[in-house]
Amino acid sequence: MSNQKYTVTAALPYANGPLHLGHVAGVYLPADIFVRFLRMNKEDVLFVCGSDEHGAAITLRAKKEGTTPKEIVDRYHSINEKAFSDFDISFDIYSRTSKEIHHKTAQEYFKKLDENGSFIQKTTEQYYDEEFKQFLADRYITGTCPNCGHESAYGDQCENCGTALSPTELKDPKSTLSGKTPTLKETSHWFLPLDRHEDWLREWIKEGKFEGEELHNPKDWRNQVVGQCMSWIDGGLKPRAMTRDLDWGVAVPKEDADGKVLYVWLDAPIGYISATKEWAEANGKNWEDYWTGDSELIHFIGKDNIVFHAIIFPVLLKEHGGFNLPKNVPAYEFLNLEGDKFSTSRNWAVWLHEFIEENPDKVDELKYVLTSIAPESKDSEFTWKEFQARINNELADILGNFINRAVVLTNKYYDGKVPARGELHDVDNDVLEQLAGFPEKIAGLIRKYKLREAQSEAMNLARLGNKYLAETEPWKLAKTDMERVNTIMNIALQISASLSIVFAPFLPKKAQKIGEFLNFESNNWENAGNSDLLESGHSIGQSSILISKVEDKYVEEQVEKLKNTNMSNSNLPPQKDEVTFDDFMKMDIRVGEIIDAEKVPKADKLLKLTVNTGIDQRTVVSGIAEHFAPEDIIGKKVSVLLNLAPRKIRGVESQGMILMAENEDGKLSFVSPDEGFDGGCEIR
Ligand code: 2FM
Ligand code: ZN
Repeated sequence: MSNQKYTVTAALPYANGPLHLGHVAGVYLPADIFVRFLRMNKEDVLFVCGSDEHGAAITLRAKKEGTTPKEIVDRYHSINEKAFSDFDISFDIYSRTSKEIHHKTAQEYFKKLDENGSFIQKTTEQYYDEEFKQFLADRYITGTCPNCGHESAYGDQCENCGTALSPTELKDPKSTLSGKTPTLKETSHWFLPLDRHEDWLREWIKEGKFEGEELHNPKDWRNQVVGQCMSWIDGGLKPRAMTRDLDWGVAVPKEDADGKVLYVWLDAPIGYISATKEWAEANGKNWEDYWTGDSELIHFIGKDNIVFHAIIFPVLLKEHGGFNLPKNVPAYEFLNLEGDKFSTSRNWAVWLHEFIEENPDKVDELKYVLTSIAPESKDSEFTWKEFQARINNELADILGNFINRAVVLTNKYYDGKVPARGELHDVDNDVLEQLAGFPEKIAGLIRKYKLREAQSEAMNLARLGNKYLAETEPWKLAKTDMERVNTIMNIALQISASLSIVFAPFLPKKAQKIGEFLNFESNNWENAGNSDLLESGHSIGQSSILISKVEDKYVEEQVEKLKNTNMSNSNLPPQKDEVTFDDFMKMDIRVGEIIDAEKVPKADKLLKLTVNTGIDQRTVVSGIAEHFAPEDIIGKKVSVLLNLAPRKIRGVESQGMILMAENEDGKLSFVSPDEGFDGGCEIR
């Protein structure tokens, strides 16, 4: 018996927000299809994922929401775990990096590398936020990418071009905490000297060879993965800090490392190993079997994760020793949404958990659409119109229609019993021959991670079935030549049975439903293409609707919903750059009462207001004269920014600012409190 195993990982999503369709199309769904296919081939496969709960992605989110990192990761871990499960992603384990087993595994891993001399500990100057008394790394610092000019690159990576960066490489760096230009301060860290590894990495990525052994065929790796890696290696790899001055994460297991944690990109991929250990312990397996020897390690990731999975983690694996290097790193490009990038801050997204809540019976339909448009080799786009077209014109009209015809006619002519084939005509032989060829074609594509094409081939088998019925017209022959109809219907049913197998990795629920219609079950890929899956005389079941069509109204509603909840799709100005909580708290905004108002001479737009602020009476000049008559606004309670630096406007000193709401037509309204809120009440 072969010991061959597969460890398939899907990038651990940060538990700092819900998952959207972009995440699913470009990592989790393709990984799931691949794994389901392997399982149907009786392979020993472990499918690992979990929440990435450390790093600045989490702590900054907590700060933004005014809560703790723990609260954030607990919340999003459960939302995402449930969404994955409802979407039928068949992980063997969905763990989380806050678990003790992970902290222990990551610390042991670090210690081993430290003992091996894989790190260099050095003191360097790092950016520091004087106001917040914090060193700035990763998402705590942004600036212009030296590679592509993107203005909000992070301290460890530019998400626009994928380049791995160090904070000191950013042009015009700014702290995300205070918004200020940071200072430099000395601190000591453990660095991974990636420069030592250039030679073997080059050979491994370019030729698939490691220490003289051929590990993979480099042609099997996606061009963009090899291309990105080679350009980094050729550009010269630099030592990279593997520890951080933070209090959230896995503590550095060293005596002289108080207040330091492991870099999230050191601990997160080790999360794949800890999750394997956790799963193995719970299932009586040996975790090492899945990481050593005859086991293939495959990382499904988005393109922004390439450097971490194809360069840094392999270096860590090699330095530790005893681990296999990844066999492949299928990286996906990005999925866009209705002509724009997915954006959490602008709410330009279709959230997976919301879609499932609203459409619990459309899980496989969504899977079908997402695989059809998966961003395998270039960025692609999800539109609701295409969602409708793919479901109605392909899933329903081709697959649904064929299965329905085969099942309904069998019930009608044979009371649900599979008829025996008679003498075969050319058209029958031709169809059976084609049927036999499909599974291998589809399998070959799946093994090469061409899942879009693979699914489209599966649909071609349904097309073949439809074409066969359209050409042979059993419903006409039924009046004159029932023997011929027996053969045709038998073949149509064999095709249907194969469809339930070849669609199973892509559309597990629909495949199961087809199986129920046929009263047939097979999870064995080897059976696909066989022309005798259903014996003559076998009783099939009844069909019901396999795929419901998507109405125009549904599409309109979805587009409308996206526009309504989106923040940038109106004439209203887009959201401004983020400010810190502390920045906001610096503003002294209060309720004020306008006690006098008059026009400023020779200034059409300006009113000079006297405002009772509760603490004083002051003059505020406001550009509202075209909207309000002075006499109408005396006595009005309004919101005033008190500590705005005074300035002279048309010779009058203005000591504050009245806050106004402005709508899309440019109309103004005061921001007024309810009754009972007098001058001086703070607004925050
Ligand atoms: O990009 C991300 O969402 C990261 N949390 C992926 C981590 S993958 C792995 F290394 F854990
Ligand atoms: Zn860049």
